[in-house]
Amino acid sequence: MEREWSFSTKLLHNEWKVDRHTGAVSVPIQHASTFHQFDFDSFGKYDYSRSGNPTREALEETIAALEGGVRGFAFASGMAAISTAFLLLSRGDHVLVTEDVYGGTYRMITEVLTRFGIEHTFVDMTDLNAVAENIRPNTKVIYMETPSNPLLKVTDIQGVVKLAKAHGCLTFLDNTFMTPALQRPLDLGVDIVLHSATKFLAGHSDVVAGLAVVKDEELGKELYKLQNAFGAVLGVQDAWLVLRGLKTLHVRLKQSSESAAAIAQYLACHPKVEEVYYPGLENHPGHDIQRHQADGFGAVLSFRLADEEAARTFVRNVRLPVFAVSLGAVESILSHPAKMSHAAMPKEERLRRGITDGLLRLSVGLEDVNDLIADFEQALSFVNEHPSVVPTR
Ligand SMILES: Cc1ncc(COP(=O)(O)O)c(C=O)c1O
Repeated sequence: MEREWSFSTKLLHNEWKVDRHTGAVSVPIQHASTFHQFDFDSFGKYDYSRSGNPTREALEETIAALEGGVRGFAFASGMAAISTAFLLLSRGDHVLVTEDVYGGTYRMITEVLTRFGIEHTFVDMTDLNAVAENIRPNTKVIYMETPSNPLLKVTDIQGVVKLAKAHGCLTFLDNTFMTPALQRPLDLGVDIVLHSATKFLAGHSDVVAGLAVVKDEELGKELYKLQNAFGAVLGVQDAWLVLRGLKTLHVRLKQSSESAAAIAQYLACHPKVEEVYYPGLENHPGHDIQRHQADGFGAVLSFRLADEEAARTFVRNVRLPVFAVSLGAVESILSHPAKMSHAAMPKEERLRRGITDGLLRLSVGLEDVNDLIADFEQALSFVNEHPSVVPTR
């Protein structure tokens, strides 16, 4: 029997490792927007690059294979992928969404889908009873993000899938934080996996891209129609950058996850840190589910300082991480969700979800972990000790 290669090998040795025409070991970038048709009646495989392009196709087939799907789609951004998937919904449909969702997705659901008569309910998806209670007769999609952004809450994927199937709903899952290196939602029954490929998949803070993958051919045809109709496709240079980034995905994530675990342990013991959110910590409420449904805990963690002033002081003094919107890169990225990823969320909603003004999110890069910890130690020494503040939930 032929050996099934492991994930890290598959990243390099796949359908696209050598160009069949030239032997090139890098996927050629096909810039053409249109393709000559040699026959008046029967057209070739490619006719126009919005509808299909060989470079984009290499990425689409690669991510489909890595996620264990049948069809992949590459978009101009993670939000383009997510928004296009939502176009499967129609007026009068309802979507049930994890309350701890990326701010841009929140904006799409609350400010755009509502204009088209698509209803929504946010629920705490760590609570399967709450999910069950909020499914309505018109619920068409249950939308998961796990671990979630920025509080790293873990959803029991199979639990939600079971409820969705019992009620005839589709499930979407944003797999940006885990990537298929650590979590393969299609194997757990999810219908559409979504990615901001801007993050770990590309991995170098140099491209904005989105991906979607399905396991069902019919759903694939519908999503293809929407990708082509809406037209938010990924450009070929960017598709190539994601393909290049993917080759090192496994080693990057392995190294960064190990460092994240060490940093989470360090921060959890620090007196000026009020709370650390990282599913790899044994006292994290989702630790066991995460261990069961994924192959690791990832490279993103959040931690809560007393208030905005403490967060501001920390950010001002820390030297290694960049302070930026984004995550999943070779350099560590520190962000302030209240002002960045979740700025689109009204303050009372944000605070209710526990995204307080002292919360910082850290995406761990490839720096030496001891250097990172030493840097955090010196930055925390500038933070004033405050009495513990109870977060408004
Ligand atoms: C979890 C998650 N999903 C989706 C997105 C949106 O992706 P993009 O910025 O590529 O549009 C982001 C961006 O930060 C994200 O963190």
